[in-house]
Amino acid sequence: MPLISPSALGRRQFLQAGLVCAFGALSWPVRAQDRSPASDGLTVTVRAGKARVHMVGEGYPSTEVWAYNGLEPGPVLRVRQGAPFRATVGNELTEATTVHWHGIRLPNAMDGVPYLTQKPIMPGERFKYAFTPPDAGTFWYHSHEDSLIQMGRGLAGAFIVEEAEPPAVDREQLWTIQDWRLTDDAQIAPGFNNRMEAAMDGRIGNTVTINGRVPDAVRVRAGERIRLRLLNAAIARIMALRFEGHQPVIVALDGQPCEPHQPTEGRILLGAAMRADVMLDMQGEPGRSYQVIDDFYDRLAYTLVRLEYKKAAPVRPHPSGAPLRLPSNPVPRPDLKTASVHVIQLQGGMMGGMGIGGGMMGMGGSAAWAINGQSMTGDGSAGMPPLFEIARGRSCILDMRNETAWWHPMHLHGHSFQVLDRDGKAVPHDIWGDTVLVRPRERVRVAFVADNPGDWMFHCHIMEHQVGGLMTIIRVT
Ligand code: C2O
Ligand code: CU
Repeated sequence: MPLISPSALGRRQFLQAGLVCAFGALSWPVRAQDRSPASDGLTVTVRAGKARVHMVGEGYPSTEVWAYNGLEPGPVLRVRQGAPFRATVGNELTEATTVHWHGIRLPNAMDGVPYLTQKPIMPGERFKYAFTPPDAGTFWYHSHEDSLIQMGRGLAGAFIVEEAEPPAVDREQLWTIQDWRLTDDAQIAPGFNNRMEAAMDGRIGNTVTINGRVPDAVRVRAGERIRLRLLNAAIARIMALRFEGHQPVIVALDGQPCEPHQPTEGRILLGAAMRADVMLDMQGEPGRSYQVIDDFYDRLAYTLVRLEYKKAAPVRPHPSGAPLRLPSNPVPRPDLKTASVHVIQLQGGMMGGMGIGGGMMGMGGSAAWAINGQSMTGDGSAGMPPLFEIARGRSCILDMRNETAWWHPMHLHGHSFQVLDRDGKAVPHDIWGDTVLVRPRERVRVAFVADNPGDWMFHCHIMEHQVGGLMTIIRVT
Protein backbone atom coordinates (compact mmCIF):
# COMPACT_ATOMS: atom_id res chain seq x y z
CA MET A 1 0.00 0.00 0.00
CA PRO A 2 1.50 3.37 -0.96
CA LEU A 3 2.29 5.63 1.94
CA ILE A 4 1.36 9.26 2.08
CA SER A 5 4.56 11.24 1.99
CA PRO A 6 4.83 13.45 5.05
CA SER A 7 5.82 16.45 3.00
CA ALA A 8 2.74 16.17 0.78
CA LEU A 9 0.55 15.77 3.79
CA GLY A 10 2.20 18.67 5.54
CA ARG A 11 1.61 20.89 2.59
CA ARG A 12 -2.02 19.94 2.30
CA GLN A 13 -2.66 20.49 5.93
CA PHE A 14 -0.94 23.83 5.79
CA LEU A 15 -3.06 24.94 2.88
CA GLN A 16 -6.23 23.73 4.44
CA ALA A 17 -5.46 25.24 7.79
CA GLY A 18 -5.06 28.52 5.92
CA LEU A 19 -8.75 28.45 5.12
CA VAL A 20 -10.59 31.37 6.65
CA CYS A 21 -7.48 32.51 8.54
CA ALA A 22 -5.75 33.72 5.40
CA PHE A 23 -8.62 35.83 4.21
CA GLY A 24 -10.79 35.97 7.26
CA ALA A 25 -10.93 39.63 8.21
CA LEU A 26 -13.66 40.71 5.88
CA SER A 27 -17.01 42.25 6.09
CA TRP A 28 -18.64 41.66 2.77
CA PRO A 29 -22.25 40.67 2.69
CA VAL A 30 -23.21 37.93 0.27
CA ARG A 31 -23.56 39.62 -3.05
CA ALA A 32 -26.72 39.13 -5.01
CA GLN A 33 -25.81 37.95 -8.47
CA ASP A 34 -27.02 39.84 -11.50
CA ARG A 35 -30.48 38.78 -12.22
CA SER A 36 -31.71 38.78 -15.75
CA PRO A 37 -35.49 38.42 -15.72
CA ALA A 38 -36.84 35.05 -16.78
CA SER A 39 -38.50 35.42 -20.09
CA ASP A 40 -40.41 33.40 -22.58
CA GLY A 41 -37.11 32.74 -24.21
CA LEU A 42 -33.56 33.80 -23.58
CA THR A 43 -30.84 34.60 -26.07
CA VAL A 44 -27.44 35.40 -24.64
CA THR A 45 -23.88 35.96 -25.73
CA VAL A 46 -21.31 34.34 -23.50
CA ARG A 47 -17.63 35.19 -23.84
CA ALA A 48 -15.03 33.00 -22.21
CA GLY A 49 -11.93 35.04 -21.41
CA LYS A 50 -9.56 36.32 -18.76
CA ALA A 51 -10.76 38.79 -16.17
CA ARG A 52 -9.71 40.27 -12.85
CA VAL A 53 -12.17 40.15 -9.97
CA HIS A 54 -12.18 41.14 -6.32
CA MET A 55 -12.63 37.91 -4.51
CA VAL A 56 -11.05 38.22 -1.09
CA GLY A 57 -11.64 41.83 -0.30
CA GLU A 58 -10.01 45.05 0.85
CA GLY A 59 -6.28 44.98 1.19
CA TYR A 60 -5.79 42.25 -1.38
CA PRO A 61 -5.12 42.60 -5.07
CA SER A 62 -7.73 41.44 -7.53
CA THR A 63 -7.53 37.84 -8.66
CA GLU A 64 -6.99 36.84 -12.27
CA VAL A 65 -9.63 34.33 -13.28
CA TRP A 66 -10.99 32.81 -16.47
CA ALA A 67 -14.58 33.93 -16.59
CA TYR A 68 -17.74 34.19 -18.63
CA ASN A 69 -18.52 37.79 -19.60
CA GLY A 70 -15.89 39.01 -17.14
CA LEU A 71 -18.02 37.90 -14.18
CA GLU A 72 -17.03 35.40 -11.51
CA PRO A 73 -19.08 33.24 -11.36
CA GLY A 74 -20.52 33.73 -14.84
CA PRO A 75 -23.86 35.51 -15.38
CA VAL A 76 -26.89 33.80 -13.89
CA LEU A 77 -28.90 32.52 -16.81
CA ARG A 78 -32.61 32.36 -16.08
CA VAL A 79 -35.19 30.97 -18.39
CA ARG A 80 -38.76 29.81 -17.91
CA GLN A 81 -39.48 26.09 -18.05
CA GLY A 82 -40.28 25.02 -21.60
CA ALA A 83 -39.02 28.27 -23.15
CA PRO A 84 -36.24 28.19 -25.76
CA PHE A 85 -32.71 29.10 -24.78
CA ARG A 86 -29.97 30.20 -27.14
CA ALA A 87 -26.37 31.06 -26.39
CA THR A 88 -23.60 32.13 -28.69
CA VAL A 89 -20.35 31.27 -26.96
CA GLY A 90 -17.27 33.15 -28.10
CA ASN A 91 -13.83 31.95 -27.10
CA GLU A 92 -11.43 34.72 -26.05
CA LEU A 93 -9.04 32.33 -24.32
CA THR A 94 -5.80 31.12 -25.84
CA GLU A 95 -6.96 27.51 -25.79
CA ALA A 96 -10.02 25.58 -26.99
CA THR A 97 -13.18 25.45 -24.87
CA THR A 98 -16.76 24.16 -24.80
CA VAL A 99 -19.75 24.76 -22.53
CA HIS A 100 -21.61 21.91 -20.83
CA TRP A 101 -25.12 22.61 -19.52
CA HIS A 102 -24.95 20.46 -16.43
CA GLY A 103 -28.13 18.58 -15.52
CA ILE A 104 -30.29 19.80 -18.37
CA ARG A 105 -31.96 17.14 -20.47
CA LEU A 106 -31.09 18.26 -23.99
CA PRO A 107 -30.12 16.91 -27.42
CA ASN A 108 -26.70 15.27 -27.45
CA ALA A 109 -25.26 17.77 -29.95
CA MET A 110 -25.83 20.55 -27.37
CA ASP A 111 -24.11 18.75 -24.49
CA GLY A 112 -20.74 20.45 -24.91
CA VAL A 113 -18.35 17.53 -24.67
CA PRO A 114 -15.33 18.17 -26.91
CA TYR A 115 -14.91 15.76 -29.84
CA LEU A 116 -17.67 13.50 -28.52
CA THR A 117 -20.63 15.84 -29.14
CA GLN A 118 -19.05 18.84 -30.88
CA LYS A 119 -15.80 20.24 -32.22
CA PRO A 120 -14.13 22.30 -29.51
CA ILE A 121 -14.49 26.05 -29.90
CA MET A 122 -11.03 27.24 -30.92
CA PRO A 123 -9.64 30.63 -29.80
CA GLY A 124 -11.44 33.38 -31.70
CA GLU A 125 -14.27 31.07 -32.75
CA ARG A 126 -17.93 30.93 -31.76
CA PHE A 127 -20.44 28.17 -31.25
CA LYS A 128 -24.21 28.40 -30.98
CA TYR A 129 -26.06 26.34 -28.42
CA ALA A 130 -29.85 26.09 -28.55
CA PHE A 131 -32.22 23.94 -26.53
CA THR A 132 -35.44 24.11 -24.56
CA PRO A 133 -35.05 23.00 -20.94
CA PRO A 134 -37.90 20.61 -20.12
CA ASP A 135 -37.39 20.70 -16.35
CA ALA A 136 -37.57 23.56 -13.88
CA GLY A 137 -34.77 23.66 -11.35
CA THR A 138 -31.30 24.77 -10.32
CA PHE A 139 -28.76 23.79 -12.95
CA TRP A 140 -25.42 25.17 -14.05
CA TYR A 141 -22.99 25.54 -16.89
CA HIS A 142 -19.26 25.10 -17.06
CA SER A 143 -16.37 24.42 -19.37
CA HIS A 144 -15.87 20.82 -20.45
CA GLU A 145 -12.53 21.27 -22.21
CA ASP A 146 -9.30 21.21 -20.19
CA SER A 147 -11.90 21.23 -17.47
CA LEU A 148 -9.76 20.77 -14.40
CA ILE A 149 -7.92 23.99 -15.28
CA GLN A 150 -10.75 25.90 -16.96
CA MET A 151 -13.24 25.22 -14.17
CA GLY A 152 -10.49 25.55 -11.59
CA ARG A 153 -9.80 29.05 -12.93
CA GLY A 154 -13.47 29.99 -12.83
CA LEU A 155 -15.41 29.04 -15.97
CA ALA A 156 -18.74 28.21 -14.33
CA GLY A 157 -22.11 29.82 -13.65
CA ALA A 158 -25.66 29.04 -12.54
CA PHE A 159 -28.50 28.20 -14.92
CA ILE A 160 -31.93 28.59 -13.37
CA VAL A 161 -35.08 27.26 -14.97
CA GLU A 162 -38.12 28.80 -13.31
CA GLU A 163 -41.33 26.93 -12.59
CA ALA A 164 -44.47 28.18 -14.34
CA GLU A 165 -45.84 28.71 -10.84
CA PRO A 166 -42.95 29.17 -8.41
CA PRO A 167 -43.68 28.38 -4.75
CA ALA A 168 -44.66 31.22 -2.46
CA VAL A 169 -41.59 32.54 -0.64
CA ASP A 170 -40.56 35.96 0.63
CA ARG A 171 -37.39 35.87 -1.39
CA GLU A 172 -34.96 33.72 -3.23
CA GLN A 173 -31.20 33.53 -2.88
CA LEU A 174 -28.68 31.74 -5.01
CA TRP A 175 -25.37 30.69 -3.50
CA THR A 176 -22.89 29.59 -6.11
CA ILE A 177 -20.16 28.18 -3.90
CA GLN A 178 -16.62 27.84 -5.26
CA ASP A 179 -13.38 26.70 -3.72
CA TRP A 180 -10.04 28.23 -4.64
CA ARG A 181 -6.45 27.64 -3.71
CA LEU A 182 -5.01 31.12 -3.54
CA THR A 183 -1.49 32.34 -2.94
CA ASP A 184 -0.72 35.06 -0.38
CA ASP A 185 -1.29 37.72 -3.03
CA ALA A 186 -4.73 36.28 -3.82
CA GLN A 187 -3.78 34.65 -7.12
CA ILE A 188 -4.87 31.16 -8.14
CA ALA A 189 -2.03 28.85 -7.15
CA PRO A 190 -0.48 26.86 -9.98
CA GLY A 191 0.08 23.14 -9.70
CA PHE A 192 -3.23 21.68 -10.80
CA ASN A 193 -3.29 17.90 -11.07
CA ASN A 194 -0.78 17.20 -8.35
CA ARG A 195 -0.45 13.42 -8.53
CA MET A 196 -0.79 12.83 -4.84
CA GLU A 197 -3.95 14.90 -4.53
CA ALA A 198 -5.35 13.50 -7.76
CA ALA A 199 -5.28 10.03 -6.23
CA MET A 200 -6.96 11.27 -3.05
CA ASP A 201 -9.65 13.96 -2.47
CA GLY A 202 -8.55 16.16 -5.38
CA ARG A 203 -7.45 19.77 -5.15
CA ILE A 204 -9.07 21.21 -2.04
CA GLY A 205 -8.49 24.94 -1.79
CA ASN A 206 -7.99 27.41 1.03
CA THR A 207 -10.67 29.96 0.14
CA VAL A 208 -14.39 29.37 -0.29
CA THR A 209 -16.51 32.00 -2.03
CA ILE A 210 -20.24 32.55 -2.38
CA ASN A 211 -21.21 34.27 -5.63
CA GLY A 212 -17.57 35.12 -6.25
CA ARG A 213 -16.60 36.63 -2.90
CA VAL A 214 -15.46 35.47 0.48
CA PRO A 215 -18.67 36.32 2.31
CA ASP A 216 -19.16 37.55 5.79
CA ALA A 217 -22.89 37.72 6.36
CA VAL A 218 -26.27 37.25 4.78
CA ARG A 219 -28.71 39.77 6.15
CA VAL A 220 -32.08 38.29 6.90
CA ARG A 221 -35.32 39.28 8.55
CA ALA A 222 -37.00 37.21 11.25
CA GLY A 223 -40.06 35.32 10.06
CA GLU A 224 -39.29 35.41 6.36
CA ARG A 225 -39.12 32.31 4.21
CA ILE A 226 -36.17 32.12 1.84
CA ARG A 227 -35.78 29.74 -1.02
CA LEU A 228 -32.09 29.06 -1.08
CA ARG A 229 -30.55 27.59 -4.20
CA LEU A 230 -27.22 25.99 -3.29
CA LEU A 231 -24.75 25.12 -6.02
CA ASN A 232 -21.46 23.42 -5.25
CA ALA A 233 -19.37 24.62 -8.20
CA ALA A 234 -16.03 23.52 -6.70
CA ILE A 235 -13.69 21.31 -8.70
CA ALA A 236 -13.22 18.89 -5.81
CA ARG A 237 -14.45 20.06 -2.42
CA ILE A 238 -17.41 18.19 -0.95
CA MET A 239 -19.54 20.21 1.48
CA ALA A 240 -21.71 19.36 4.47
CA LEU A 241 -23.62 22.50 5.41
CA ARG A 242 -25.20 23.00 8.81
CA PHE A 243 -27.41 25.99 9.56
CA GLU A 244 -26.96 26.73 13.23
CA GLY A 245 -30.33 27.34 14.93
CA HIS A 246 -32.33 26.62 11.76
CA GLN A 247 -34.12 23.72 10.18
CA PRO A 248 -33.61 23.81 6.45
CA VAL A 249 -35.98 21.69 4.38
CA ILE A 250 -34.67 20.19 1.16
CA VAL A 251 -37.27 20.49 -1.60
CA ALA A 252 -35.16 19.64 -4.65
CA LEU A 253 -31.81 18.04 -5.41
CA ASP A 254 -29.97 18.66 -8.67
CA GLY A 255 -33.00 20.64 -9.79
CA GLN A 256 -35.40 17.74 -9.39
CA PRO A 257 -38.15 18.09 -6.75
CA CYS A 258 -38.19 15.55 -3.91
CA GLU A 259 -40.47 15.04 -0.93
CA PRO A 260 -39.66 17.97 1.35
CA HIS A 261 -37.47 16.64 4.15
CA GLN A 262 -34.89 17.74 6.66
CA PRO A 263 -31.38 16.57 5.88
CA THR A 264 -29.93 13.70 7.90
CA GLU A 265 -28.35 15.04 11.10
CA GLY A 266 -29.08 18.53 9.82
CA ARG A 267 -26.21 18.41 7.29
CA ILE A 268 -26.83 19.19 3.65
CA LEU A 269 -24.33 17.04 1.81
CA LEU A 270 -23.22 18.42 -1.54
CA GLY A 271 -20.56 16.78 -3.64
CA ALA A 272 -18.88 18.80 -6.36
CA ALA A 273 -21.48 19.73 -9.03
CA MET A 274 -24.48 18.98 -6.80
CA ARG A 275 -27.32 21.39 -6.04
CA ALA A 276 -29.97 21.60 -3.38
CA ASP A 277 -33.02 23.82 -3.21
CA VAL A 278 -33.73 24.53 0.41
CA MET A 279 -36.62 26.27 2.13
CA LEU A 280 -35.37 28.24 5.09
CA ASP A 281 -37.81 29.69 7.60
CA MET A 282 -35.94 32.40 9.45
CA GLN A 283 -36.90 31.47 12.98
CA GLY A 284 -33.93 33.09 14.68
CA GLU A 285 -34.04 36.04 17.05
CA PRO A 286 -33.98 39.57 15.63
CA GLY A 287 -30.54 41.12 16.13
CA ARG A 288 -28.73 37.79 16.53
CA SER A 289 -26.44 36.03 14.14
CA TYR A 290 -26.07 32.33 13.33
CA GLN A 291 -23.34 30.43 11.58
CA VAL A 292 -23.51 28.31 8.49
CA ILE A 293 -20.80 25.71 8.96
CA ASP A 294 -19.22 23.31 6.51
CA ASP A 295 -17.74 20.39 8.44
CA PHE A 296 -17.40 17.76 5.74
CA TYR A 297 -13.69 17.05 6.10
CA ASP A 298 -12.43 15.89 9.47
CA ARG A 299 -10.59 18.65 11.32
CA LEU A 300 -11.31 21.15 8.57
CA ALA A 301 -14.62 22.64 9.66
CA TYR A 302 -15.02 26.33 8.93
CA THR A 303 -17.74 28.97 8.97
CA LEU A 304 -18.94 29.54 5.44
CA VAL A 305 -21.05 32.57 6.29
CA ARG A 306 -23.24 34.04 9.04
CA LEU A 307 -26.96 34.66 8.93
CA GLU A 308 -27.33 38.09 10.43
CA TYR A 309 -30.78 39.04 11.65
CA LYS A 310 -32.00 42.60 11.37
CA LYS A 311 -33.35 44.05 14.58
CA ALA A 312 -36.78 44.49 13.05
CA ALA A 313 -39.71 42.49 14.40
CA PRO A 314 -40.62 39.25 12.58
CA VAL A 315 -42.45 39.74 9.29
CA ARG A 316 -45.08 37.23 10.44
CA PRO A 317 -45.94 35.85 13.87
CA HIS A 318 -45.79 32.18 12.84
CA PRO A 319 -43.75 30.41 10.19
CA SER A 320 -45.23 30.59 6.72
CA GLY A 321 -47.73 27.80 6.20
CA ALA A 322 -47.39 27.82 2.42
CA PRO A 323 -46.81 24.37 0.92
CA LEU A 324 -43.18 23.39 0.43
CA ARG A 325 -43.50 20.87 -2.31
CA LEU A 326 -42.37 21.98 -5.76
CA PRO A 327 -44.39 21.12 -8.86
CA SER A 328 -43.02 17.96 -10.44
CA ASN A 329 -40.98 17.85 -13.65
CA PRO A 330 -41.82 15.71 -16.69
CA VAL A 331 -38.99 13.22 -16.07
CA PRO A 332 -39.93 9.69 -17.19
CA ARG A 333 -40.06 7.11 -14.39
CA PRO A 334 -37.92 4.03 -15.00
CA ASP A 335 -39.62 0.64 -15.10
CA LEU A 336 -37.57 -1.37 -12.65
CA LYS A 337 -39.05 -4.71 -13.75
CA THR A 338 -37.83 -4.45 -17.32
CA ALA A 339 -34.71 -2.37 -16.66
CA SER A 340 -31.35 -3.68 -17.78
CA VAL A 341 -28.79 -3.74 -14.97
CA HIS A 342 -25.22 -2.56 -15.45
CA VAL A 343 -22.56 -3.04 -12.83
CA ILE A 344 -20.20 -0.11 -12.57
CA GLN A 345 -17.09 -0.64 -10.49
CA LEU A 346 -15.30 2.49 -9.36
CA GLN A 347 -11.64 1.65 -8.98
CA GLY A 348 -8.23 3.05 -8.16
CA GLY A 349 -6.93 5.97 -6.16
CA MET A 350 -4.62 5.94 -3.20
CA MET A 351 -4.97 2.66 -1.30
CA GLY A 352 -6.92 1.33 -4.25
CA GLY A 353 -4.31 -1.06 -5.56
CA MET A 354 -3.69 0.74 -8.85
CA GLY A 355 -0.68 2.68 -7.69
CA ILE A 356 -0.25 6.19 -8.92
CA GLY A 357 0.62 6.81 -12.51
CA GLY A 358 1.26 3.15 -13.05
CA GLY A 359 -1.87 2.57 -15.07
CA MET A 360 -3.89 -0.54 -14.48
CA MET A 361 -4.31 -3.60 -16.59
CA GLY A 362 -2.35 -2.05 -19.36
CA MET A 363 -4.28 1.24 -19.35
CA GLY A 364 -1.28 3.45 -19.82
CA GLY A 365 -0.78 7.12 -19.21
CA SER A 366 -1.18 8.76 -15.89
CA ALA A 367 -4.45 7.07 -15.02
CA ALA A 368 -5.03 6.74 -11.31
CA TRP A 369 -8.68 5.74 -11.59
CA ALA A 370 -10.80 3.36 -13.63
CA ILE A 371 -14.33 2.16 -14.27
CA ASN A 372 -14.62 -1.60 -14.77
CA GLY A 373 -10.87 -1.78 -15.40
CA GLN A 374 -10.89 0.90 -18.13
CA SER A 375 -9.42 4.35 -17.72
CA MET A 376 -10.83 7.01 -20.02
CA THR A 377 -8.82 10.10 -19.26
CA GLY A 378 -9.18 13.76 -20.15
CA ASP A 379 -12.35 15.65 -21.02
CA GLY A 380 -13.83 13.77 -23.94
CA SER A 381 -12.47 12.44 -27.19
CA ALA A 382 -13.77 11.05 -30.45
CA GLY A 383 -14.27 7.34 -30.81
CA MET A 384 -14.39 6.47 -27.13
CA PRO A 385 -16.08 3.10 -26.93
CA PRO A 386 -19.26 3.08 -24.82
CA LEU A 387 -19.45 0.99 -21.68
CA PHE A 388 -22.83 -0.24 -22.90
CA GLU A 389 -25.61 0.66 -25.29
CA ILE A 390 -29.26 1.07 -24.51
CA ALA A 391 -32.21 1.81 -26.75
CA ARG A 392 -34.06 5.08 -26.30
CA GLY A 393 -37.10 4.66 -24.07
CA ARG A 394 -35.64 1.66 -22.24
CA SER A 395 -35.04 1.72 -18.51
CA CYS A 396 -31.71 0.90 -16.98
CA ILE A 397 -30.16 0.55 -13.55
CA LEU A 398 -26.61 1.60 -12.81
CA ASP A 399 -25.36 -0.60 -10.01
CA MET A 400 -22.36 1.34 -8.76
CA ARG A 401 -19.84 -0.31 -6.48
CA ASN A 402 -17.26 1.99 -5.06
CA GLU A 403 -14.21 -0.19 -4.55
CA THR A 404 -12.08 2.79 -3.64
CA ALA A 405 -11.27 4.48 -0.34
CA TRP A 406 -12.62 7.86 -1.58
CA TRP A 407 -15.90 9.68 -2.16
CA HIS A 408 -17.13 10.17 -5.71
CA PRO A 409 -19.90 12.49 -6.94
CA MET A 410 -20.88 10.49 -10.05
CA HIS A 411 -22.54 12.50 -12.81
CA LEU A 412 -24.53 11.34 -15.83
CA HIS A 413 -24.93 13.77 -18.71
CA GLY A 414 -28.29 14.58 -20.29
CA HIS A 415 -30.47 12.58 -17.88
CA SER A 416 -31.94 12.69 -14.41
CA PHE A 417 -31.90 9.42 -12.51
CA GLN A 418 -33.80 8.15 -9.51
CA VAL A 419 -31.63 7.16 -6.55
CA LEU A 420 -32.93 3.72 -5.58
CA ASP A 421 -30.86 2.38 -2.73
CA ARG A 422 -27.59 2.56 -0.82
CA ASP A 423 -25.96 -0.65 0.36
CA GLY A 424 -29.31 -2.35 -0.28
CA LYS A 425 -31.34 0.10 1.79
CA ALA A 426 -34.05 1.97 -0.07
CA VAL A 427 -33.49 5.73 -0.26
CA PRO A 428 -36.51 7.66 1.09
CA HIS A 429 -38.07 10.93 -0.15
CA ASP A 430 -38.15 10.08 -3.88
CA ILE A 431 -34.71 11.49 -4.65
CA TRP A 432 -33.66 12.23 -8.22
CA GLY A 433 -30.50 13.79 -9.52
CA ASP A 434 -27.86 13.98 -12.18
CA THR A 435 -25.02 13.55 -9.70
CA VAL A 436 -24.96 11.12 -6.80
CA LEU A 437 -22.41 11.16 -4.00
CA VAL A 438 -21.03 7.66 -3.43
CA ARG A 439 -19.26 6.98 -0.16
CA PRO A 440 -16.04 4.94 0.09
CA ARG A 441 -16.87 1.22 -0.41
CA GLU A 442 -20.55 2.03 -0.81
CA ARG A 443 -22.91 0.42 -3.33
CA VAL A 444 -25.47 2.80 -4.82
CA ARG A 445 -28.08 1.98 -7.43
CA VAL A 446 -29.74 4.59 -9.64
CA ALA A 447 -32.24 4.12 -12.46
CA PHE A 448 -33.29 6.16 -15.46
CA VAL A 449 -35.04 5.97 -18.80
CA ALA A 450 -32.67 6.37 -21.73
CA ASP A 451 -33.72 9.66 -23.25
CA ASN A 452 -32.14 11.42 -26.22
CA PRO A 453 -29.95 9.32 -28.53
CA GLY A 454 -26.21 9.87 -28.47
CA ASP A 455 -23.09 9.24 -26.43
CA TRP A 456 -23.52 10.47 -22.87
CA MET A 457 -20.65 10.88 -20.52
CA PHE A 458 -20.74 9.38 -17.05
CA HIS A 459 -17.96 10.48 -14.73
CA CYS A 460 -16.84 11.56 -11.31
CA HIS A 461 -17.14 15.33 -10.85
CA ILE A 462 -13.99 15.64 -8.76
CA MET A 463 -12.09 16.95 -11.74
CA GLU A 464 -8.82 15.15 -11.11
CA HIS A 465 -10.74 11.90 -10.81
CA GLN A 466 -12.49 12.53 -14.12
CA VAL A 467 -9.36 13.45 -16.04
CA GLY A 468 -7.50 10.63 -14.29
CA GLY A 469 -9.77 7.89 -15.59
CA LEU A 470 -13.02 7.83 -13.60
CA MET A 471 -15.11 8.36 -16.70
CA THR A 472 -17.01 6.35 -19.26
CA ILE A 473 -19.69 6.64 -21.91
CA ILE A 474 -23.23 5.34 -22.13
CA ARG A 475 -24.66 5.17 -25.64
CA VAL A 476 -28.37 5.70 -26.23
CA THR A 477 -29.38 4.31 -29.62
CU1 C2O B 1 -20.72 18.95 -14.94
CU2 C2O B 1 -19.21 16.16 -17.57
O1 C2O B 1 -19.96 17.59 -16.23
CU1 CU C 1 -14.20 10.73 -7.75
